[in-house]
Amino acid sequence: MSNTEQTLSIIKPDAVERNLENEIKEMFKNKGFVIVKEKKIQIEKSEAEKFYKVHETKPFYNDLCTYLSSGPIVVMILEKESAVLGNRELMGATNPTDAEEGTIRKKYGISIDKNSVHGSDSVDNAKIEIDFFFKD
Ligand code: CMP
Repeated sequence: MSNTEQTLSIIKPDAVERNLENEIKEMFKNKGFVIVKEKKIQIEKSEAEKFYKVHETKPFYNDLCTYLSSGPIVVMILEKESAVLGNRELMGATNPTDAEEGTIRKKYGISIDKNSVHGSDSVDNAKIEIDFFFKD
């Protein structure tokens, strides 16, 4: 049975700033992801606060929102079989130091904050996050 899913991916400011957009997109395409929609934008801090609301009680929330709104980002809808889990595997652990070889964060991540990419953590959150950026 087919289990085609969509997930939201963000190429974060640290990666866009280093011109890694195309390399990272190639890693997705090489794993069979189709980029259904994409746009390069810069968001306001207030929008980052809404996007990361789930983390609002965390000590890193303020810095995280300042960072995500600090420069251009690329937001993408990725599609393939089991896209949510597949994307999380390809991204690697949140902290690049813990990420496995072959993952995006291992290859390009600088720190737990500047970890180059974000990806939805569940099918439900993928729908919410896709709507957040792509609802007309
Ligand atoms: P992301 O997958 O975008 O989701 C939330 C982000 O918070 C995470 O990636 C990290 O970049 C950032 N972050 C900063 N500090 C921490 C921490 N201690 N634990 C988890 N995420 C953190």
